[in-house]
Amino acid sequence: MTRHLSAVHRCLGIGLLGMMIGPAFLQAQAQTVSTTSSSAMPPGIERSSFGQLPDGREVDCYRITNDNGIEMRVINYGGIIVSLKTPDRAGRMDDIVLGFDSIGDYLSDTYRQANPYFGALIGRYGNRIANGRFTLDGETYHLPTNDGPNTLHGGDVGFNQRLWHAEPFSSAEGRGLVLTYTSADGEQGFPGRLSTRVRYTLTNDDELAIDYRARTTRATPVNLTQHSYFNLKGEGSPSILDHQLMINASAYTPVDETLIPTGEIADVSGTPFDFREPTAIGARLGQKNTQLAYAKGYDHNFVLSKNPGQDDLPTLAARVLEPRSGRVLEVATTEPGLQFYSGNFLDGSLTGKSGRPYTHRSGLALETQHFPDSPNQPNFPSTILRPDETYHSQTIYRFSTTASENQLATD
Ligand code: BGC
Repeated sequence: MTRHLSAVHRCLGIGLLGMMIGPAFLQAQAQTVSTTSSSAMPPGIERSSFGQLPDGREVDCYRITNDNGIEMRVINYGGIIVSLKTPDRAGRMDDIVLGFDSIGDYLSDTYRQANPYFGALIGRYGNRIANGRFTLDGETYHLPTNDGPNTLHGGDVGFNQRLWHAEPFSSAEGRGLVLTYTSADGEQGFPGRLSTRVRYTLTNDDELAIDYRARTTRATPVNLTQHSYFNLKGEGSPSILDHQLMINASAYTPVDETLIPTGEIADVSGTPFDFREPTAIGARLGQKNTQLAYAKGYDHNFVLSKNPGQDDLPTLAARVLEPRSGRVLEVATTEPGLQFYSGNFLDGSLTGKSGRPYTHRSGLALETQHFPDSPNQPNFPSTILRPDETYHSQTIYRFSTTASENQLATD
């Protein structure tokens, strides 16, 4: 038994064979969904106006609650999760994601300049594509470059800035929203008309299960993800550096100065990227390390450890514990990678829902995904979707609490 497997085992308190996190986690993927026409809301879901886009289109906000009182608010603009309230160990509810209460804040110049993608669905290609180009089946495609020389999160106008069609639903497992968006052939330079369907389910087992599907008319790269920033003390709290993080990965993909992977799959052993044992996020950020310097902190893709033969099932990717509140967030996914971003570019210029500024490293993102720049990296798992295939990816965020501050250390 390797050291890191037993550490993961201990921190989850489950058997190694059950490393996919337990039955409730898995059931969320098999639910039968019945959607409701948008005029009749299922119980536990309320719709209200979130304002208008500059072209006059209405943005709707869906408030979804589960049987235990966890509450999530989602807007159809960008599929953005604008708030998510979960209990701490004493039962006190706090909003644990960064975001805003009005559409104007998501459209402001200050927000666009900072470009943090708070809470949004990311597509067609989450993360970076080097130099805004790739070659597929002998043809070279050019994309808008919006992050130095590279394309980030789908280009200038990604899925995070699109108005999605939303259908609320209620099922045996919970309540949620099915969001659909059709991206035109050639949109942001990508080939193929891509029909995308994302289902958010807030389950009665306190999970947010996200199911992504897409079909295309021509071969195209697809890499969808969700870009929520968490602060388990509550959004607006100044730092995530004392959150304890475990990432189920023994390798990561080092990057160059522009955050494009070099192609190497590097062992995390003996580096600040070894999160196989739960470690405070801030513990090694001060170390002299070229990778940390390039990204101004953590902004790296981790190569997730998978159980043999279980690539199609959500497996544990990460676990975060905030000692004071006792809140725990677990992430399981079918994806091979996880971008851990420590909020390095937050600088206090944006003020959140509670009226407090979102300061440096006051939120963290755990973006499940294929590896960055895969269309240009032949040794990475392929992100190419072809017309005879269906893109399917699942990620589950599970919310719980621990009784003791030291639970991760003593489990
Ligand atoms: C990227 C960061 C970027 C952030 C907000 C993350 O997914 O890796 O480099 O700053 O998104 O755009």
